[in-house]
Amino acid sequence: VGYSLETAIADLVDNSIAARAKHVEVVAAWNRGEPVFSLVDDGEGMNAERMVEALRFGGSGPDLDRAEEDLGRFGLGLKTASLSQCRRLTVASIRESQISVMSWDLDHLRKRRDAWELIEGEYTGPPEVLTRLSSGPSGTAVIWEKVDFGRDTDRPDRESFLRDLEVVERHLAMVFHRFLATARLTLKINGAMVEAWDPFLQSHEATIPLPEQRLKGPGGITRARGFVLPHRDRFRNDAEFQVAGGPEGWNSQQGLYIYRKKRLLIAGGWLGLGRKAAWTRDEASRLARVRVDIPASADRDWRIDIRKAVARPPDTLRKELQRIAEDVRSRARAVFIHRGAGTPRVRADNAKRLWEIHPERDSKRYGISRSHDLVELIGKKLGRDAALLECLLDLAERTVPIERVWLDVTDRGPPLDPIKTEDGKRELVDDATAMLSTIMKAGVALEAAIQMVLSMEPFSSVPDLAKKLNRKPIRVKA
Ligand SMILES: Nc1ncnc2c1ncn2[C@@H]1O[C@H](COP(=O)(O)OP(=O)(O)O)[C@@H](O)[C@H]1O
Ligand SMILES: [Mg+2]
Repeated sequence: VGYSLETAIADLVDNSIAARAKHVEVVAAWNRGEPVFSLVDDGEGMNAERMVEALRFGGSGPDLDRAEEDLGRFGLGLKTASLSQCRRLTVASIRESQISVMSWDLDHLRKRRDAWELIEGEYTGPPEVLTRLSSGPSGTAVIWEKVDFGRDTDRPDRESFLRDLEVVERHLAMVFHRFLATARLTLKINGAMVEAWDPFLQSHEATIPLPEQRLKGPGGITRARGFVLPHRDRFRNDAEFQVAGGPEGWNSQQGLYIYRKKRLLIAGGWLGLGRKAAWTRDEASRLARVRVDIPASADRDWRIDIRKAVARPPDTLRKELQRIAEDVRSRARAVFIHRGAGTPRVRADNAKRLWEIHPERDSKRYGISRSHDLVELIGKKLGRDAALLECLLDLAERTVPIERVWLDVTDRGPPLDPIKTEDGKRELVDDATAMLSTIMKAGVALEAAIQMVLSMEPFSSVPDLAKKLNRKPIRVKA
């Protein structure tokens, strides 16, 4: 079916939530290369009759009317998710002081070719799982033995096993973040509490939440809300920025987040939205995320599959979702490009910029401003030869290495703002001083020259530059 370890475990947690569990504990034991997984919850539990039904493939399928908490749908999750990772699935459950234990064992089934024989009352899992299960009035344990991760011969070593568990943790922190954040659910993996990961970074002051839109569609109201996440500059450090990107990273995790009953089904991607061609997850719109809550009964219209891995917006909602997504994307691109926009930086708004960006013209999209003080000054100095300067500027504009810059920024991120380090600031002051003296040598008076330098990017954003320029002894021969 195409489950991964993390999506398979998430399906088990779905069942625990549906059974109104408040606490779920996952234990993954390495067990010297024969891993055993167990999940114990404190939900309602099952009696024997119910368990037989629970272990039947397609037992309670999509046509069943389900309770509000019930995240299930196809009546397959428990079985398909488990047997995608292991060859022996045991369910032990307590309800009304009765314990029931049943297993599907693929090796047993293979031997008994003629019958679908469920094994009853034969517990081979870790004893401490039964102890934990028995500590409450009701609950369910799911145990995976003969874990092969759905592979033929390729087995993880201990290191990759531990890495896989980290993936599981990040996945569960994301998928169930709305449960974990409200303490409706606590979730532990090998004793460690799983903390919610909010894709919309609502706790960050620089996140821009857009108004929620209510859309009429299949199954009732769909609620959609865009969020523009903060620019990289607004994070305290790189680690924080990486975490905010999510398990799959910033680019992959842009787009629509589809929830059903607060459970995240789809984490990002534009799901076929787009004007001429479907949008791809491009770097420039990586800060755009849209939360979409669909009605519980609408997953058929969203074409959500059993693995909860793909979806397509229903045609009746497409136009409006497109409009919402377009808005978020364009805002996100603005934040991405104007790095640090909105930061309380000392940048005079009338700072003179050397580069002008012309959105429409393609041959000279990036132009050098002819009214920049320095350009004008050089032009005047050159006099009759000013056309030479025009040649140089024209050439520079035509040969901006756009692709190279793009690649470098994609690979390494944008260059650090020099203002942010002491060394960088010092260098800017030195450069400004050198420029000041050069300009004066060209015949500009001190006051005018200082004003010129102070008004130019990047010097315009250096704090206290005026004081420093005045203080430095500058000698120019008359
Ligand atoms: N942790 C659990 N606690 C109580 N009942 C469970 C649990 N897991 C599974 N079940 C029962 O098993 C049934 C089948 O589960 P599953 O195969 O995941 O299909 P679905 O979740 O779509 O119903 C559930 O509907 C539920 O009745
Ligand atoms: Mg289920």
